[in-house]
Amino acid sequence: MFTTQHGNLLPVPTGALQISRRPLSLENTTSNRPGVNSIYPIRFSLVIPTYNESGNIERIIQQLSAMLDEVLPHNYELIVVDDDSPDRTWELAAALIPEYPCLRVMRRETERGLATAVIRGWQVAQGEVLGVIDGDLQHPPDTLLRLLSELEHGADLAVASRHVEGGGVSTWSATRRFLSRGAQLLGLMILPRVVSRVSDPMSGYFLVRRGAIAGQILNPVGYKILIEVLGRGAIDQIAEVGYVFQEREEGESKVTWKQYMDYVHHLLRLRVDSGRLGRWGERLHFPVGRFLRFGLVGISGLAVDMASLYILYDVLGMGLTRSAILAAEIAIINNFLWNDRWTFGDLAKQQSQRGMVIKRFLKFNIICLMGLILKVLLLNLFFNGLQMNPYLANLIAIAIVTFWNFWINLKLSWRVTQVR
Ligand code: GDD
Ligand code: MN
Repeated sequence: MFTTQHGNLLPVPTGALQISRRPLSLENTTSNRPGVNSIYPIRFSLVIPTYNESGNIERIIQQLSAMLDEVLPHNYELIVVDDDSPDRTWELAAALIPEYPCLRVMRRETERGLATAVIRGWQVAQGEVLGVIDGDLQHPPDTLLRLLSELEHGADLAVASRHVEGGGVSTWSATRRFLSRGAQLLGLMILPRVVSRVSDPMSGYFLVRRGAIAGQILNPVGYKILIEVLGRGAIDQIAEVGYVFQEREEGESKVTWKQYMDYVHHLLRLRVDSGRLGRWGERLHFPVGRFLRFGLVGISGLAVDMASLYILYDVLGMGLTRSAILAAEIAIINNFLWNDRWTFGDLAKQQSQRGMVIKRFLKFNIICLMGLILKVLLLNLFFNGLQMNPYLANLIAIAIVTFWNFWINLKLSWRVTQVR
């Protein structure tokens, strides 16, 4: 699905982060390639994610175009994906289009983040080879030629690495080196199968064959698009090319602590999704990662439910059934808030109008109240029928109802209809 935009900007894809197997044909996307270029097939699409790069954007476009016009005349495209930069990088880039026919520009106004920016750019790409380069000139453009040649020689993925021969960083502080190496070490501990495949898993400078990632539902968090490609793609042959990470001349790095937290979150998500449980869920089309998050939210709801039950039943002396119902409603509100923000946050973001949130809450509530009736029936069956301890009976009843709640909410409240 595409949302249309004004002027010569690209339409912004929405929905699942999935790359099509065949490059988008020209009629699907507004191509800025007037006349001669529109009949050429595009071999190579290079995405340049930008946020506040007004001081760099013209130079990076100029340098990349000069080099690629030499080696791939009319056979490449540059796709700037800007997240509505306050310094209006997208506008500066769009103004360059008449001068650079191979340049296309996307301005995202609702979604943000480096990794998803790259994927949205690849979704409108027309090339068989997809690439990403930083927009701040810290990735030397000429390394691209060696990356392209690696793909010509059969690699599925060609990564520009700071940690192989010919690689390095300019004057990085000891802290920055420590943090970068620390992140790599963490990756090796949490996701060894993926992170150990390359010497620079933090790199944001690489090319990948479209066929190696097409069809996969990508689901990155934050900055590190390379581990997402490694973790979910069908990557067989990997090549690495050494490069020296340059000093930034204009603007500043957007890396904050949040990116490091996102990185850990991303590693854990990939760990669950690419582990045995994730592969089992993939086969059964059961979203294990989501269910685990739903379960964690359920545990927080359990704590809220139990604490409320204790206060209402033991402290305030209310009847067991009435206390159980009230305690459950308090837990339902707790769970809706967490699920809407976290478990189904990516879907909720696409349905963020207030009316839709209220509709989702009502559906969630009705489904959970039906689950509550089921829970109270089970609680009384186990407590009165089987003489079970009331707390143990409550616990088992909650576990059974959790599966019910997850599956029905998945299909009705957040409408997870991932078309395979
Ligand atoms: N669209 C978009 N949205 N672009 C972004 C965002 C965002 O939220 N955040 C950063 N960018 C763009 C920047 O404008 C820049 O072009 C590029 O992504 C890298 O961002 P920096 O903030 O400059 O990152 P860095 O210099 O610390 O580089 C580190 O991260 C890069 C991205 O993974 C290093 O690890 C690099 O190797 C890596 O390429
Ligand atoms: Mn940078």
